[in-house]
Amino acid sequence: METKIFAKDQLDEAVDLLAKGELVAFPTETVYGLGAIATNEKSVKGVYAAKGRPSDNPLIVTVSDEEMIARYAKEVPERAKKLIKHFWPGPLTILLFVKPGSLPTAVTGGLDTVAFRCPDDQLTHDLIAKLGYPIVGPSANTSTKPSPTTAQHVYHDLKGKIAGIIDGGPTRVGLESTIVDLSVKTPIVLRPGEITPEEISQVLGEKVLINTGKVSDKEVPKAPGMKYRHYAPSAPVVVVDHVEDFAHIPLNAETGVMALKSELSKIDLPEENKFNLGNDLVDADHNLFGGLRYFDDKKQIKQIYVQGFDEGEESLAYMNRLNKAAAGHHFK
Ligand code: TXA
Ligand code: MG
Repeated sequence: METKIFAKDQLDEAVDLLAKGELVAFPTETVYGLGAIATNEKSVKGVYAAKGRPSDNPLIVTVSDEEMIARYAKEVPERAKKLIKHFWPGPLTILLFVKPGSLPTAVTGGLDTVAFRCPDDQLTHDLIAKLGYPIVGPSANTSTKPSPTTAQHVYHDLKGKIAGIIDGGPTRVGLESTIVDLSVKTPIVLRPGEITPEEISQVLGEKVLINTGKVSDKEVPKAPGMKYRHYAPSAPVVVVDHVEDFAHIPLNAETGVMALKSELSKIDLPEENKFNLGNDLVDADHNLFGGLRYFDDKKQIKQIYVQGFDEGEESLAYMNRLNKAAAGHHFK
């Protein structure tokens, strides 16, 4: 299959493909998503096949506005309305009980909840509004690889497997949306993102829990995706928690280093062995996945050392992704 790249002004062609049941990747403010019409079971199954994703890992339903979720949610509780009013369109995904029979079980993975997301991206808004139906929107990468933050990343992973990619340029945030579960008594953040638990708690005026991510394979996990290996390039990743330790890592042709510009300049390695995460944590969020992909394409690199940041509200999302990419390995 030829994978077409669509420019911003070719949206109608992308809408036609989606309406026909084809798969089209789309930009959001977080990462690129892999779209298929959410009400078509065959198309949804195609998404799992294209990504190589386990079938018990449910998909996000991407909508153009709040009205669209009323068709698929059993109810929209007051809490959800508050969060939607405050954060949508934006990088917050909300779990609600699904209206039985309104979506194929392939979307929800057979759970009684469904994840709704309304991205802050005009192209995607127009795409879904024109289609008139929501689209599923998992990250548009091959399962286990870092999420794509450019149309080129999507093309690298999925060329020949999907009908098209809408190129909206590099994404703004670079890490996936915050997921908050509202189907439980106390709201719980299942995946940290740009919108912090503290901000959610402030808008709701109540306590918000944070999932620690320790999910065993035996129980039914609340965010099934968390039990799988994720964000991982082929070479092992090691987190460097203290910048002083960059002075102690082995430096040779097989070493890759990802750090802020200020640290990178002190490290004596050829430029191609270094990846600049930028000037601050916001830049690092934006660049993390691109850096992991950069080294994944350099087969001579056998070990990737990545700068960590002190745990805190602001670094939750970055450290969550980095810890997964590193499978818990920290420099000692
Ligand atoms: O920023 C984002 O959220 C991106 C963009 C493209 O919108 N999408 C994204 O989708 O990250 P994905 O599929 O890569 O990650 C969604 C996560 C998965 O870990 C999945 O297990 C979880 O959400 N999830 C989806 N539906 C769920 C449900 N009903 N209950 C619990 N977890 C759910
Ligand atoms: Mg993903």
